[in-house]
Amino acid sequence: MKIVAVKDFAEMSKMAAAKISHQVKEKQNSVLGLATGGTVVGTYEELIKDHKQNQTSYEEIHTVNLDEYLGIDKDNPNSYHQFMMENLFSQININPENIHIPYGLATDYEEESKKYEKVISDLGGVDLQLLGIGVNGHIGFNEPGTSFDSVTHVVELEESTRQANKRFFNSIDEVPTHAITMGISTIMKSKEILLLVSGKTKAEILEKVINEGITETIPATVLKNHPNVTIIADEEALSLVDDEKKREFDQDKEEFSNKYILAN
Ligand code: PGA
Repeated sequence: MKIVAVKDFAEMSKMAAAKISHQVKEKQNSVLGLATGGTVVGTYEELIKDHKQNQTSYEEIHTVNLDEYLGIDKDNPNSYHQFMMENLFSQININPENIHIPYGLATDYEEESKKYEKVISDLGGVDLQLLGIGVNGHIGFNEPGTSFDSVTHVVELEESTRQANKRFFNSIDEVPTHAITMGISTIMKSKEILLLVSGKTKAEILEKVINEGITETIPATVLKNHPNVTIIADEEALSLVDDEKKREFDQDKEEFSNKYILAN
């Protein structure tokens, strides 16, 4: 697991966008695994800027999103479909047919989960998966205790997750109680993973992910089993990691920033 320590949200977003843009140019029909949430918004802004200024093309790119709330339609402003349309897809030249997000109003969720796994495998798997992390250590909506063998499935959201996400809704009562998410083994099959972590609220969980062993009670620790993971984390998120440990990350930052530079 490589750790790239950056100053703040803006630097994290630029670095992440540089990496994704590099992937898109290197392999024009890449399959990108995408995430929603506050953490990735800046990255998407940078990708849009890069698309406009440098004509980075998404014409042949396919995307698969991590998750979707259950019980709300695609057109609902709080659906992850809408989040992705607003924050990225409507502003780049992606073919709508190449966008894949689980459907939150499926009549048969088991069938929808199986279908989603097939979509991913038919595409040949995810080349680069973007992730955020929950305050409880979740990746996608895989809450603590989820089996590392899990594939796409329906989950009941933890109270801490609903509380963390209520800022996007009018009230806590409107935050869905369930979601459909790629499983942990689905995520782990990605060829490469980029995890973004920003802000003080994530400091405690990031310290645990870095310093503790691999355990299903902290889902993100599974990433230590993956051969190609980079975490980009800002100063606030790394504030509980001691300085000696942080010095171990210097080399990772140098290598990463030498390789991925956003031309703008
Ligand atoms: P956030 O969510 O980016 O809004 O903090 C991340 C997550 O819950 O995975």
